[in-house]
Amino acid sequence: MKNKAINILNENWRDGYTVPCKDLYPFQWLWDSGFIAIGYAHFDMDKALQEIKTLLNSQWENGFLPHIVFHKKSDTYFPGESFHQANLHPLANKNYPSTGMTQPPVTGFVLEKILKISKNNNEVLNFIKKNIDSVYKNHHYLYTNRDINNEGLVYIYHNWESGTDNSPIWDDIWATMGAPEINFKRLDTNVVDASERPTNKDYYNYLHIINIAKKYAYNDAAIAKHSPFLIQDPLFNSILIKSNTALINLYKIIGGNTSKIEQLQKWQEKSISSFNKKLYDEELNAYVHYDLRNEKPIRYITSSSFSPLFAGICSNERAKKLAHTIQTKFGSKNLYLCASFDPENERFNPVKYWRGPVWVNLNWMLYYGLKDYGYTSLANKIKSDTIELIEKAGFYEYFDARKTSYKQNTKGCGGYNFSWSAALLIDLINKN
Ligand code: DGY
Repeated sequence: MKNKAINILNENWRDGYTVPCKDLYPFQWLWDSGFIAIGYAHFDMDKALQEIKTLLNSQWENGFLPHIVFHKKSDTYFPGESFHQANLHPLANKNYPSTGMTQPPVTGFVLEKILKISKNNNEVLNFIKKNIDSVYKNHHYLYTNRDINNEGLVYIYHNWESGTDNSPIWDDIWATMGAPEINFKRLDTNVVDASERPTNKDYYNYLHIINIAKKYAYNDAAIAKHSPFLIQDPLFNSILIKSNTALINLYKIIGGNTSKIEQLQKWQEKSISSFNKKLYDEELNAYVHYDLRNEKPIRYITSSSFSPLFAGICSNERAKKLAHTIQTKFGSKNLYLCASFDPENERFNPVKYWRGPVWVNLNWMLYYGLKDYGYTSLANKIKSDTIELIEKAGFYEYFDARKTSYKQNTKGCGGYNFSWSAALLIDLINKN
């Protein structure tokens, strides 16, 4: 299995970065790159470091990191560079065409993890010394431009910024938007069965928000004022908090940098406190998304609801409640852990992208989070379910959680030979 995973990563490697999946995703994606680098770190540290370096090279002058870097032209992906037009923003990177939206800021915790995998290797430490300030600058960008209430919780303005693209949590927002029909040609459904991808109507919403952002030349303040989609996402904010912790630890290892450490600690304190006050739902026993535009919580349980475990945000008492919610709602004996959306909810769809299937990257975060809080057997169950799914159904992008769906030769869903499924499998089967 490990060899197969290594082959997938090597095959998806382009010159200096890795595509998440041939044809379906033919460029460099921010959070994919981070998870992918963790996989490489176990067998090819040069590639791990190059992956991160290429990503950081695409940074904008204001610290922003784009969600896709369009390194090469491709005729298998829409919407590409010419639709996004990120260069409307005056500080966009002149050398790396990209989108004008970001993705969960994984880079900080990825650097710390890579250093750990390398057993504090000097070359890796030197790389971190040279590049850590770019990651700090990215956090600075997020806290200064995306935290409009100055509460330590940053917003996302597009569902693609969450990473959980077509989650049912966005459905009510789409209903308020009245997005116009746009004439365009879907390319993703040439590669993956349409039943496993977002609908055309979903795409009208996605493109409509981009068109609004373009109208304001991707100006953050204008987007905060005008975007119909403005969300405080527990997954995005957990990852930011996890990466804050990593940056603090890494700066301490490097030495000096006192003012940056102090700033990170200030952000961190405020973020954790607001996160616990604002995003926890006592009735659902889970963290939820908050809709800033319509000023209300979005009261659904998703796998993102448990991401605070990964970032060490919750008290032991809340961790116990989260573990209980996972076990009772997501952990019936007929299901693999962990569905991406509440399997008891009518919006659950077991094969449609982020509307229910199991994702390896979320499982990977839950595994480490539960382990850190002492829920070892639940953590190990998530780990063994992940490995079993890949063994049974292949290195796919996502997986039906229902055990009864798996007959002989049943395949996973979405893209095949998916890079982060390979990369994180390598990490999971390594002796942790
Ligand atoms: C897609 O095209 O589905 C990507 O997830 C956007 O980031």
